Amino acid sequence: MNVDYSEKIPNNVNLAGNRTLQRALEQWQPEFLNWWTDTGPEGTGNTDVYLRTAVSVEPKGWAHFDYVKMRDYRWGIFLAPAEAGRKVNFGAHKGEPAWQEVPGEYRANLRRLIVTQGDTEPASVEQQRHLGLTCPSLYDLRNLFQVNVEEGRHLWAMVYLLHAHFGRDGREEAEALLMRRSGDADNPRILGAFNEPTPDWLAFFMFTFFTDRDGKYQLCSLAESGFDPLARTCRFMLTEEAHHMFVGESGIGRVVQRTCEAMVAHKTDDVGKLRALGVIDLPTIQRYLNFHFSVTMDLFGSDVSSNAATFYTSGLKGRFEETKIDDDHLLNGAMYPVLEIRDGALVTSEAPTLNALNEKLRDDFIRDAAAGIERWNKVIEKQGIPFRLKAPHKAFHRRIGPLAAAHIDPAGNVVSAAGWEAKAAEWLPSAADQAFVASLMGRVVEPGRFANWIAPPARGVDNKPADFAYVRFG
Ligand SMILES: [Fe+2]
Ligand SMILES: [Fe+2]
Repeated sequence: MNVDYSEKIPNNVNLAGNRTLQRALEQWQPEFLNWWTDTGPEGTGNTDVYLRTAVSVEPKGWAHFDYVKMRDYRWGIFLAPAEAGRKVNFGAHKGEPAWQEVPGEYRANLRRLIVTQGDTEPASVEQQRHLGLTCPSLYDLRNLFQVNVEEGRHLWAMVYLLHAHFGRDGREEAEALLMRRSGDADNPRILGAFNEPTPDWLAFFMFTFFTDRDGKYQLCSLAESGFDPLARTCRFMLTEEAHHMFVGESGIGRVVQRTCEAMVAHKTDDVGKLRALGVIDLPTIQRYLNFHFSVTMDLFGSDVSSNAATFYTSGLKGRFEETKIDDDHLLNGAMYPVLEIRDGALVTSEAPTLNALNEKLRDDFIRDAAAGIERWNKVIEKQGIPFRLKAPHKAFHRRIGPLAAAHIDPAGNVVSAAGWEAKAAEWLPSAADQAFVASLMGRVVEPGRFANWIAPPARGVDNKPADFAYVRFG
């Protein structure tokens, strides 16, 4: 199932066979390019970037690498291959053939799910717009740009569904996706984490590790959808998402590596001395971790949610690895542990599993993220340093759901407002931390050179060496 690149909009959905849809998307295309020029990576109009482009949707060999100007990137529409005889695998319609068209009664909910997912894609491009100006190396710059163009493609993926299946309101939603702006007071992006700034590369790596991983879990749930075009779109997006999380995990791993090398070489864990050496002390890395983890926790939504139950029962959004779970896939009567605040303390109670599906997905995410954090700890251990990075409690620093009503410390204890104030600078990046990290952010663009605060990668992209000219400035 190769992709046809002779088309104006590369695709594997036989766009040429539906002239009305093709014309509508061809009208949206220049608006997308205007949005990219306005809010995409700053000052890169003439920059050649060694990027991968999807040439097939088969798991092996789908990517082609070459120098591309980002504006000329072939953003297209790619669905994973159809699965013959696929069924709705959960909820009230379990066992019915998967839907190829939107079921009328679920139209509004399905559109809402697609728009919410679609809105995150351009948002992260906007959040990362200025990072290219302070890249720690050409290798990292190229990875940033790869993430950016693929988030642009994810927007295309959702816009295709809106145009193909939701008629006029779908087209209006597709336009609105280009109108909202991350952090804009009047017309912000839909979800909180996507309105936070990504001011520096430490934040970028944390974002791609935690927030893109939320993307993975949302996409995995939508890849189970009974609405087959959504499932197939999300399955292909997941292959791209894996790279984004790699950028985050390896990025933080390299920062940790560099810091630990300096700690060993200078026999010190003194924050002041380490900062003077131009590396990022581990407590600051922990505070960035705490912030991005907690902001990402909120993305999963309210702990107990009737919408989550509706999405599941209607067959629109499943659980992570739904078909691998051994239960009835209806969940009536099942219970799941959720947290609440009772008499000033955090306690575990039980909620119907159907209503607790956000919480369950959050727990799936936490297990996955914790494994990545342990891989960072291996880097620290190898250098013989007695420090461990740790995910904060999932109730820490929440702004959504009932837990937002209390101040909860990283260990999961409810603390007073005064107690929070007194310790906040130990738990979350302070203005001073951010100013220090910002002070390290120079622009390193000589092939093979890396900023002092980050170790070179173990290997390059596409089997190229670390000193390959991944980006060429025009
Ligand atoms: Fe994405
Ligand atoms: Fe992503």
